Amino acid sequence: MRKNIVAGNWKMNNDLDASKELVKGIKKSIKKLDLKNTRVVVAPTFVNLLSVAKKAKKSRIEVAAQNMHQADNGAFTGEISADMLKSVGVKSVILGHSERREYFGETDELLAKKVDQALKNKMEVIFCFGEKLEERKADNHFKVVESQLKNALFHLEAKAWKRIVLAYEPVWAIGTGETATPDQAQEMHAFIRKLIVDKYGDEVAENVSVLYGGSVKPDNAKEIFSKPDVDGGLIGGASLKVEDFVKIIKAAE
Ligand code: PGA
Repeated sequence: MRKNIVAGNWKMNNDLDASKELVKGIKKSIKKLDLKNTRVVVAPTFVNLLSVAKKAKKSRIEVAAQNMHQADNGAFTGEISADMLKSVGVKSVILGHSERREYFGETDELLAKKVDQALKNKMEVIFCFGEKLEERKADNHFKVVESQLKNALFHLEAKAWKRIVLAYEPVWAIGTGETATPDQAQEMHAFIRKLIVDKYGDEVAENVSVLYGGSVKPDNAKEIFSKPDVDGGLIGGASLKVEDFVKIIKAAE
């Protein structure tokens, strides 16, 4: 049975003190919750991973990285390897976020290599994808999503999907305050699950969590998460405030 996941993508926000405060606040608030089917993940910036992971100990909070390099090690100035992440207790990584694609030129081909590297290291991948506004307006959103998934993930064997979490994030909804309607999210999530059924069969499709991302807030989370193919969310802005993030976690449970 797949789990709901609420993952906070802190992006390039929060220095060391702010990161520690935030994770401390989340830890304290979720202690009181009786979470049964919801995983809680936070993704701070690289330099704060270790401190946040230490603070998150003895809680349900899991820590993920926002990116990772595809090589084992070597002359790649400024990059971070899977080994480095694992050495500070990080077992999940967000790959393919639209900001990485847009501002850092990450392509499906590169992302396929990063996914392979993460899986080779037994890490979990939270794989982001989604169409841009002009692609939706041109009615190409299904085609775009299909090709993003096929290019970066459909070379994997069925058993690798145990470590894959999908995050559908329409680019026009990220940080804009504009959310996909719950029906638009469900329509796309059902399409995504069907692609997985066709390629890998029902069992893989039923077990993969498909998160929605893009301006999820405390006041819209419940309705979006109530859709049958939406298994939680990847949260940007609203993950930076304890109160908002915890409300979103509650909405997923
Ligand atoms: P947002 O970001 O919630 O601020 O729209 C979501 C994301 O980029 O993952």
